[in-house]
Amino acid sequence: MPIKSTSRLDLESRYQAIIDNAVDGIITIDERGVIESVNPSALRMFGYDKEEVIGENIKILMPEPDRSNHDKYIGNYHATGKGKIIGKGREVIGRRKNGTMFPFLLSISEVILENKKIFTGVVHDISELREVKDALAKERDLSELKSRFVTMASHEFRTPLSTILSSVSLISRYNDPKDEEKRLKHVNRIKSSVNNLTGILNDFLSLSRLEEGHVMNDPIEFSINELCDEVIDEMNSILKEGQEIKVDAVQDIQKVFLDKNLVRNIMINLISNAIKYSEEGKLIFVRTYIENDVLTIEIKDQGIGIPEEDHDYLFSRFFRAHNAANIPGTGLGLNIVKKYLDLLRGRIEFQSKQSEGTTFTVQIPI
Ligand SMILES: Nc1ncnc2c1ncn2[C@@H]1O[C@H](COP(=O)(O)OP(=O)(O)O)[C@@H](O)[C@H]1O
Ligand SMILES: [Mg+2]
Repeated sequence: MPIKSTSRLDLESRYQAIIDNAVDGIITIDERGVIESVNPSALRMFGYDKEEVIGENIKILMPEPDRSNHDKYIGNYHATGKGKIIGKGREVIGRRKNGTMFPFLLSISEVILENKKIFTGVVHDISELREVKDALAKERDLSELKSRFVTMASHEFRTPLSTILSSVSLISRYNDPKDEEKRLKHVNRIKSSVNNLTGILNDFLSLSRLEEGHVMNDPIEFSINELCDEVIDEMNSILKEGQEIKVDAVQDIQKVFLDKNLVRNIMINLISNAIKYSEEGKLIFVRTYIENDVLTIEIKDQGIGIPEEDHDYLFSRFFRAHNAANIPGTGLGLNIVKKYLDLLRGRIEFQSKQSEGTTFTVQIPI
């Protein structure tokens, strides 16, 4: 419909209504960055009332480092006539009144009025778009993890499965009582192969659950000494010939308030590595203590150690050190441990020398 009335007042209220009802935020600032007008959408996005922003510098809507640098950006623009955003659109981060951040698309145009210059910013909230993007990226990650796992599993499953098969067929032939020792040897081989297979599956399931965001940090009060005994009981069944776990609980009572399951899984992962990467007859030392509200768990072995050049990559997904090629594994365990520790706001470090042994040290604020 053609515009019937063109009186200046009518036009003005028409434009005002358009701006007031725009879905995008519209903000104008003067040459120094002082906010002159702001529409309701922009106020909603940033969580301010109109009176709180008019006359303020635009930088209050920005997080650092832009907040501190904005005067410089404007200065540069005046000096050179070149701006990074002006005349173009760009993805930036905004800061709400309550301090939270959100991503938005910002396009700025310069408007020359009769006697002065102003800048108009159009703000288009893209937090939802970001969420969809993040969800897609997560989905892609998970499917990549699964396909890499299938590749790895089809390789890693072969050895233990063929060991089981050959041991079973040998056992079925040892029916003389004097073959008892051989039979036992093969029973142990089967046990350790089944352990390897279970380990691979467990690693994969733990990582999928983590990636899907199903692992929560749910703290309860418990005694770390008791947990330690429980875990070591469990681990004693997978020790190699002559291996032994020595426990040194430095204090009598070590009550902590943490997610017991996460701590248990961390210990199981590190102790099973210590067992797996040590030869028969070697000792493993587990030490726990609490100091300044930090729980320290130390797991030390006398095993094959980790080559210096592999140290930097140890916590990456699927990474396995060069000297571990003949020992079955997924390269997922330490990555999982790291993720559990992120949930617990803890940290992990290690010291290792090839052919001498490795010490992993975990620290968790209790
Ligand atoms: N106690 C240890 N002694 C020697 N090497 C270790 C030890 N723990 C971990 N590693 C090295 O770190 C790699 C990654 O460990 P992990 O993520 O648990 O995977 P996996 O044990 O399934 O191979 C291992 O493949 C091994 O090379
Ligand atoms: Mg492992």
